[in-house]
Amino acid sequence: MTALADHWGINEAQFWLRQDLPERKVRYEESTGTWDVFGYPEIQQAITDPKAFSSDTRRLSPVADQTSTEGMLTQLDPPEHQKLRKLVSHAFTPKVVADLEPRISELTTELLDGMSGRAELVDELAYPLPVIVIAELLGVPAGDRDLFKQWVDSMFTTNNRFSLTETSPEQEEYLAKAMAEVGKLTDYLHQHVRERREHPREDLLSKLVLAEVDGQRLSDAEVANFGLVLLVAGHITTTMLLGNTLLCLDAHPEQFARVRADRSLVPRAIEESLRFLSPFAATARATTREVELGGETIGADQLVLLWVAAANRDPRQFDRPEVFDVTRDPNPHLAFGRGIHFCVGAPLARLEGRIALNLIMDRFPELRTDPDSPPEFMPNPSMTGVRRLPLLL
Ligand code: HEM
Repeated sequence: MTALADHWGINEAQFWLRQDLPERKVRYEESTGTWDVFGYPEIQQAITDPKAFSSDTRRLSPVADQTSTEGMLTQLDPPEHQKLRKLVSHAFTPKVVADLEPRISELTTELLDGMSGRAELVDELAYPLPVIVIAELLGVPAGDRDLFKQWVDSMFTTNNRFSLTETSPEQEEYLAKAMAEVGKLTDYLHQHVRERREHPREDLLSKLVLAEVDGQRLSDAEVANFGLVLLVAGHITTTMLLGNTLLCLDAHPEQFARVRADRSLVPRAIEESLRFLSPFAATARATTREVELGGETIGADQLVLLWVAAANRDPRQFDRPEVFDVTRDPNPHLAFGRGIHFCVGAPLARLEGRIALNLIMDRFPELRTDPDSPPEFMPNPSMTGVRRLPLLL
């Protein structure tokens, strides 16, 4: 597998795709001033202990972040997290997701109709599909997706890790620019939220505007920020999932043939792609007190990065972790996180993956990657996913 990560040009910082995990699974990184956690049991311990490992990491951010965390589910700790999560779970019931199936199939079919000969998977299918689905669900015009792309892309263009100890002008400039772009997206959502207060519709933004938690309504800022989380979390990761899955199958033709012949393997192939190339490589926590983890003592108020993508290659949990195996079962990967912040959109991402992969295989029996035009990966070290995947259909 060493050759694969290098061959694909994945950021070298993602060493777990190339070699065994280091002996020490928890270590302080001088250059960034953060703690890195690479092991499966260590991450499991941290991710299921929100009291010691808080999700409110912005208080430790290298730049003063003026935007509020109101409604930012990913940044909230109990009890606020529980309240908002309850509301959101209402919007993402298994039925709501299952009911999207016909629309997702229709959209995928339309997008596949536009592909022939040489195609680029990300632009033509893997980006538009999840964005249109999440935009329709929220109730914002899917036609504005070029705007979302521009705003969201600005957050993920860096190929460096940020440092808490040595802030550079480049880093500050990058963060300020990214925050300005995110601000535009929040303003855009604010406008829609205000409009829904006046004229509610059937969409998710309206449901959130009208929703009550313990007798209290959500503020405009809470609804807009939550919309932002959904729009960002809801599309970029699923785009990577679709691209990564096809790339992994293409690189393992015998397994691709098995999945084509036995479609009941599709869900497992998707889970294995999530484990093998986890789109969201790391998630951050802030320690609230001194804590022991993996034999190390971490002080209070430290930024801790939980590298779920590395844990998904931990041989203490997975047999032959470097092998892509579409029959792996069970596959308790951490690509969607675990515990109270477990990905709200996991059922939707899985559904989109299953529908898209099945329809792609139906439509293009000879599909393969283009040997003259290699895939391109996201440069950001905390994401693993194709952003360009040229195909020969
Ligand atoms: C949370 C990954 C798709 C919405 C998370 C977390 C991970 C993750 C690792 C946990 C973060 C943490 O513990 O700090 C992924 C991956 C996806 C995906 C790999 C696709 C392959 C989606 C979709 C949506 C979504 C489609 C929305 C429609 C969310 C939300 C949270 C979350 C709202 C926060 C949950 C909370 O804090 O309680 N996701 N996600 N995700 N995800 Fe996803």
